[in-house]
Amino acid sequence: MDLREKAAELRRYLDYHAHRYYVLDSPEVSDSEYDAKFRELVELEAANPGLQTPDSPTLKVGGPPVDGFVSHRHLVPMLSLDNAFGEDELRAFDERVRKGLGVETVAYNAELKFDGASLSLTYEDGLLVRATTRGDGTSGEVVTENARTVRGIPLRLRGDVPGVLEVRGEVVMFKDVFEDLNRIRLERGDQAFANPRNAAAGGLRQLDSRLTAARRLSFFCYGTGAGPRLADTHSGLLARLQELGFPVRQEAQRLEGADALVDRVAHLQTLRADLPFGIDGVVIKVDSLDQQDDLGFTARGPRWAIAYKFPAEQAFTKLVQIGCQVGRTGTITPVAELEPVFVGGVTVTRATLHNYEDLKRRNVREGDTVIIQRAGDVIPEVVGAVLDKRPADSPEPSEPTACPECGTPPVRLPGEVALKCPNRACPAQVSAKLRHFVGRNSMDIEGLGEKLIDRFLEAGFLQDIPSIYRLRLRREELEKLDKLGEQSVANLLASIEASKNRPLDRFLNALGIRFVGDRSSKDIARHFRTLEAFRTAHYEDLMALPDVGARTASEIESWLEDPLNQQLIQDLIDLGVSPVEADAPVGDLYAGQIVVFTGKLEQMTREEAEDLVIRHGGRPAGSVSKNTSLVVAGPGAGSKLVKAEQLGVRVITEDEFLATIPG
Ligand code: IVH
Repeated sequence: MDLREKAAELRRYLDYHAHRYYVLDSPEVSDSEYDAKFRELVELEAANPGLQTPDSPTLKVGGPPVDGFVSHRHLVPMLSLDNAFGEDELRAFDERVRKGLGVETVAYNAELKFDGASLSLTYEDGLLVRATTRGDGTSGEVVTENARTVRGIPLRLRGDVPGVLEVRGEVVMFKDVFEDLNRIRLERGDQAFANPRNAAAGGLRQLDSRLTAARRLSFFCYGTGAGPRLADTHSGLLARLQELGFPVRQEAQRLEGADALVDRVAHLQTLRADLPFGIDGVVIKVDSLDQQDDLGFTARGPRWAIAYKFPAEQAFTKLVQIGCQVGRTGTITPVAELEPVFVGGVTVTRATLHNYEDLKRRNVREGDTVIIQRAGDVIPEVVGAVLDKRPADSPEPSEPTACPECGTPPVRLPGEVALKCPNRACPAQVSAKLRHFVGRNSMDIEGLGEKLIDRFLEAGFLQDIPSIYRLRLRREELEKLDKLGEQSVANLLASIEASKNRPLDRFLNALGIRFVGDRSSKDIARHFRTLEAFRTAHYEDLMALPDVGARTASEIESWLEDPLNQQLIQDLIDLGVSPVEADAPVGDLYAGQIVVFTGKLEQMTREEAEDLVIRHGGRPAGSVSKNTSLVVAGPGAGSKLVKAEQLGVRVITEDEFLATIPG
């Protein structure tokens, strides 16, 4: 084969597999196989410069820097959208549209509103010739070399579209890439990116396209500008764009009427935290392109589309003070006390600063204006400070030299970043341990909440975990405590009694051993069956369990080797705590299978469903991968269901799942 043919074959191979990976989300070869072919083409072209074509995938790694960007006028302007906040504004939009068209109901297309930077791609006779940022909407900067490096942007269309076609979409940075790049930036002492959107927008505007390539950006397509009409509806257009080789998200859906829109928007909001990239809302477009033409534009933007906005996940506020908090294992965490700020749908007054090293790296001080982030149900965190607004005399934060709760000098274990209070009797630690012990997924002692624990600690009724089971000896004293009364003491003591016979996995979880959570405690309980067997477990025994890795195994082993912990278990046994044996497997129906539940279950809780799988020899998991054996999907199932379908994993309903279980 001559070299030209060889190069063409490699290009075809690389294009085909990049398309499978970025557009169809269903790769056929491993990353390393792809990389090997890629290097082969790079070397071939380097040795024979005449062989590189304008659509060669090797252009996707970037090239030498340019002096500046040229401005280019979009053939069709890039408009922005009106926003809708909340259901009422969404319904008002539908009403305007219906009135404008003079019809009863309208079909829409609802798609994700990607949180990135918009980009317009111009193809001439199928070849990418120009990429332009949005700019002021009329003209933007030409960033073609940079755009070539973005994953999912085809350098040549996979189909014939003669003449000019402008394709529009959003350049985003995936959350994992963002985390990874920020980790590296902080390690190097660089300022972290505030959010994936800034990192993506900044990435597109690098003068050196190799720096853009290093940001590992991705592209999702949502429409067209100038060019031939490719379909009659927006849904049809998206399907056609996908055929032409553009990544189109499958969440986009055609829906009729305002009720369907309201439901869909609420559902997409529940998917937000689980998506691998950021979205800040849902874009709703009239589906028929003729109807779009009828409605036309205002000076601001189209009458046929609206952006339904989710609550912002980031906000600015003032950091009043850096306090600290002592956790269950004695870890002292710096905490930001904030001027109240509304973010992610709630008012936030405190946010975590992770640890003192992180605080230093993020360069945050008291008095700073800071960026607060709250994504999904995650604890609010301080992302960083706005350095321009820093007061001139603000002091650098320092680590505490004494535990704020008990005054003991803190220590730092070798190889760990966390600062710890070594005093096991530290009231803050004891209180946090007790709270965990009585929690719903642990011993589930109803009525013993945070406030009561602290009152009991203060009054000397509680000192440690075993003292919970000695409370019954002090019934009269408890009844005299302010506002408690006979009945509530009786209820409390009854739930303490009831907790003595919780299942073993709950008990193991309650012990608060590091890295042992809900899932691994189930796994451990099922394996060891009894508390006695667990007490003498060794590293090798633990490593045999599928959900237990080396880190957890050695943590458990050293926990069990500590005489104080063995004493704790013994004290609890002596006080009558007797965890019930883990449910023995009743069958091997699901032996060796990994089962994922997604969406709403209507006949049982997720926990009950997972227990069923476990008791029949299988293993529940939280996410879908190619190792998943089965997905049980209920109403409202989203990204996991999509992934299962893409990977060809078997999907059944809750009813079908229950029908498989004997008895
Ligand atoms: S359509 C004329 N669809 O949101 C309609 N825009 O305020 C033009 N965006 O700058 C936009 N996801 O960059 C559309 N699925 C989506 C989008 C989307 C994100 C961005 C876009 C634009 C802004 C509109």
